[in-house]
Amino acid sequence: MRPFLYKFFHRSTKDKTEGGLIKIPADITKWPISWKTTEYKKIPFFDPIKLSDNFNTELFNLLQKRSSDRKSLPDNFVTLEKISKILKCACGEIKRKDGTIHRTAPSGGARYSVELYLILFKNIEELESGVYHYELQTHSLELVERRSFSSDDILSYQSDKWAVGGFGMICLASVFDRATRKYGSRGYRYILLEAGHIGQNILLSGVENGLTFIPNGSSSDIRVEGLLKLDGSSESLVYTISF
Ligand SMILES: Cc1cc2nc3c(=O)[nH]c(=O)nc-3n(C[C@H](O)[C@H](O)[C@H](O)COP(=O)(O)O)c2cc1C
Repeated sequence: MRPFLYKFFHRSTKDKTEGGLIKIPADITKWPISWKTTEYKKIPFFDPIKLSDNFNTELFNLLQKRSSDRKSLPDNFVTLEKISKILKCACGEIKRKDGTIHRTAPSGGARYSVELYLILFKNIEELESGVYHYELQTHSLELVERRSFSSDDILSYQSDKWAVGGFGMICLASVFDRATRKYGSRGYRYILLEAGHIGQNILLSGVENGLTFIPNGSSSDIRVEGLLKLDGSSESLVYTISF
């Protein structure tokens, strides 16, 4: 295996402190203003051309409703039918009119490097709490491990207290080699972009199904990879979304 650049970057950033370089106080009042300010770029040389924003489309309505509303998480009414729709919309396979197959999310070079896992903290109908892999070809869930989760367990896999009241997490992991064998480390960028597309599909499909999904960067990657039974190298966690 070649010593690709991305491997070093991905491995190093599993540590949220970047070797002690990054220190984010838990107390938000201790954060500098620059961490809380939304910045805008403006080009001052010409008068801007004002655009209309008076429209009412299905997509825009979904986008307007999407919110990382942590308080609404315990109110999520999750069913197996909703999970099925959300996973299909996330990155499920679709047959085109000409019979060829593609997916709901784009992928650089159609390398499809991202795999989806469902971690359930609670039972959902006949689906017992535990860890599942989304098998796209047959649109099925494969059991990785049946298990229960205490609040402390949940906090050991991710550090956001609001997520403890939720139903679980959708985890996006990547089999890097599918893209990097063709594109090298640039393929790593494509993989993260693919994960972003899938993530947005999950959030919007959540809104459509009355469920709040919240991106969660607080995961303890190595622990979550252990839970998903990944070696963390050939296949590794790239994104977690709580619900
Ligand atoms: C990659 C990514 C990671 C995030 N990680 C966290 C997180 O760890 N904890 C959290 O409370 N919110 C997290 N968020 C949610 C953001 O805080 C939220 O999107 C932002 O405040 C804007 O609010 P909105 O989503 O309601 O528009 C994350 C969002 C993204 C895109």
